[in-house]
Amino acid sequence: MHILILGAGGREHTFAYKIAQSPKCEKLFVAPGNAGTAGIATNVPVSVTDFEAIKKLVLQENIDMVVVGPEDPLVHGVYDFFKNDKELGQVAVIGPSKRGALLEGSKERAKEFMAMYNIPTAAYESFKAESLEAGKAFLEELKPPYVLKADGLAAGKGVVILNDLDEAKAELADMLTNKKFGAASETVVIEEFLDGIELSVFVLTDGKNYITLPTAKDYKRIGEGDKGLNTGGMGAVSPVPFADVAFMEKIENRIVKPTIEGLKAEEIEYKGFIFIGLIKVGDDPKVIEYNVRMGDPETEVVLPRIKNDLVEVFEKVAAQKLNEVNLDLDPRSAATVMLVSGGYPESYEKGKVLTGSETVEDSLVFHAGTSLKDDEVITSGGRVMAVTSLHDDFREALKTSYKNIEKIKFDKMNYRKDIGFDL
Ligand code: AMP
Ligand code: GLY
Repeated sequence: MHILILGAGGREHTFAYKIAQSPKCEKLFVAPGNAGTAGIATNVPVSVTDFEAIKKLVLQENIDMVVVGPEDPLVHGVYDFFKNDKELGQVAVIGPSKRGALLEGSKERAKEFMAMYNIPTAAYESFKAESLEAGKAFLEELKPPYVLKADGLAAGKGVVILNDLDEAKAELADMLTNKKFGAASETVVIEEFLDGIELSVFVLTDGKNYITLPTAKDYKRIGEGDKGLNTGGMGAVSPVPFADVAFMEKIENRIVKPTIEGLKAEEIEYKGFIFIGLIKVGDDPKVIEYNVRMGDPETEVVLPRIKNDLVEVFEKVAAQKLNEVNLDLDPRSAATVMLVSGGYPESYEKGKVLTGSETVEDSLVFHAGTSLKDDEVITSGGRVMAVTSLHDDFREALKTSYKNIEKIKFDKMNYRKDIGFDL
């Protein structure tokens, strides 16, 4: 098969790493890819949202399957674009339809879906500029901290949590009247704050059947002890030790099954991943968000634990025969640590020469924000590289990653030294 992966991050390098191992994969392309994917696939300088350019590439290279990494092309309807095009109709797209992707594309839609199918989540109401005063009154009824969410995609920045009521009201006004997040904050969801520990569950579905993939916990804040600004993710561990059998049963019965049933009831085509962000409140799981793709860096710990041929699994997804797949998991834990550019998630410099990643032993290196310049690897993003290790004990896996990180160098490199600290 000829396979195309859309995206350029650590998640996509991990997909490429798994897919390249499949005997079914004859040719692998990544658009646009990074310096890591360049080593195992052909990078093509095409944007993930330029559907016409993607079409040209797919026809030119006889591509049979497209695996979509990030949410942007999904929310913009890449699945439907392929389905409705006479020349592309036979190409398998791994990712949901536009209607399915709305579970991530609109927080309000996600909340309405959860309410409809009795899926446990935080109490909420949503507001528009016309209902700003009602929104302020709603904030007065709540206890702090106040959780405000821009409805649409806001590059991971659309959630604001504030302790002060007046600040929360001002933020609401900023989002609604000043369109702080552009069109994404024309609607704002205000919700109850959930107090507990976070984890994520990943589900792969063909729209009829599903398999639950390993859990993972990511570390979103830039600073040690979960302090400071939010990032895309600074590291991750899989599985999550506190997600025991009883807790996973609750997730399955109260969240995963009703989610799939809801998709079926609404006849939503969904052949892809569902990433369910959860908070464990007491002993109960509650949903904080749906994403319609895999997480990054969660992919860097989830996929290396899956022993199945990923291409075979994706073929079953496309054929809606996922019920024929038995997941074969590596029982070991996986842990990953993300190396980032100094300054990230605020402004940072790019173009730094990165050395030493080829000397890493007993860990997997997944490139994120890197590119090739002549024969050198240079940094090209905030999150630069993820170092993943496997071991029976996640703490030992982390030790291996940290030992290997000492061999990797680039100017102003930063990373968290406490991944897994709370487990
Ligand atoms: P999101 O962009 O939806 O992933 O949200 C960013 C972060 O905000 C989450 O990872 C949580 O840490 C936090 N968060 C979102 N919703 C809530 C909530 N209702 N209660 C507490 N924390 C929340
Ligand atoms: N690591 C969080 C995300 O991928 O959204």
